[in-house]
Amino acid sequence: MLDMPAIRADLHDLYDLAPNPGLAARMQTEYSRMARVVPPADWAIHAPYVAAINALKRERNATILAHNYMTPEIFHGIADVVGDSLQLAVEATRTEADVIVQCGVHFMAETSKILNPAKTVLMPDMAAGCSLADSITADGVAEMRARYPGAPVVSYVNTTAEVKAASDICCPSSNAVQIIRALEAETIIMTPDKYLAQNVAAQVPEKRIVWWEGSCIVHEQYTAEDIRAFREWNPGTRIIAHPECPPEGVAEADFSGSTKGILDYVSAERPERAMLVTECSMASNISDAHPEVEFIGPCNMCPHMKKITLEKVLWSLHSMTTQIEVAPDVADSARLAVQRMIDLSARGG
Ligand code: 13P
Ligand code: SF4
Repeated sequence: MLDMPAIRADLHDLYDLAPNPGLAARMQTEYSRMARVVPPADWAIHAPYVAAINALKRERNATILAHNYMTPEIFHGIADVVGDSLQLAVEATRTEADVIVQCGVHFMAETSKILNPAKTVLMPDMAAGCSLADSITADGVAEMRARYPGAPVVSYVNTTAEVKAASDICCPSSNAVQIIRALEAETIIMTPDKYLAQNVAAQVPEKRIVWWEGSCIVHEQYTAEDIRAFREWNPGTRIIAHPECPPEGVAEADFSGSTKGILDYVSAERPERAMLVTECSMASNISDAHPEVEFIGPCNMCPHMKKITLEKVLWSLHSMTTQIEVAPDVADSARLAVQRMIDLSARGG
């Protein structure tokens, strides 16, 4: 576990991190991308960290890959690449940086390391896990194989390296349907997200899809009743749900897609009002680029994603910790499953 009081004291000895309205005013380019959601006083606190991280990034030849659920000061202030899980995995294969700092959760950093065994991959807080990744082990995959002999295993990218290594192919939420359709088998095992599997099954009735009983603690909270009630109170609001939500909730939405899918939908449709049925930072991060859209409604925070802060990213780059390691034999098998996902996705399914 990170000793934050000690880390904070060290960082303040090494860098000038006091709130700095003058510096904040000079960093208007960065601020303009988040001004709708980050008050000026907060920006004066963040700006010294953003400046220090961006300088250190150049010194270390590092790149920051940030998931769409990162806070706006990370997403707009320090990230080199932002995106959904598939986009981050693809970018990890393209980067020429020596160091990758993963602003996201642990399985994402593992995926970057699997794809870049020779590079240094840093995780600012190793405690940033995922309820889906934690729900299954490689033994669980073996159990499913024994229960459904001959059926291929498609594991969501939200899994550990060991589970990826035990699977035939990975899938992201952005094109799980296309990947399932592309497989020849009639019965397909999907792990570990039962709701993603059920949402895919509804779109691919010609296949028999069986699933592991995992779920996302953020998306499982959205019920069909809540969404129906929200629509009744807010008529005309476009409701956009992530496919990790229960299928009854997805059925109440106007659109369902990965975080990239959500962003593309909002950009194309520009609804007057939208409710994003997903993690809270999603709406915050796209708010400034879409001033014509009013984002309303409740949202749920991912406690794992929110473990990543500017302070921890600065410490990670300064101390070059914590470096992700994946055993070479596990990484080799996992790479096959991840690469199949990337290749099939590049072919449009
Ligand atoms: P995507 O960004 O791939 O849609 O995944 C969402 C998520 O919950 C990641 O942990
Ligand atoms: Fe995992 Fe859900 Fe958090 Fe994504 S939002 S990291 S799936 S717990």
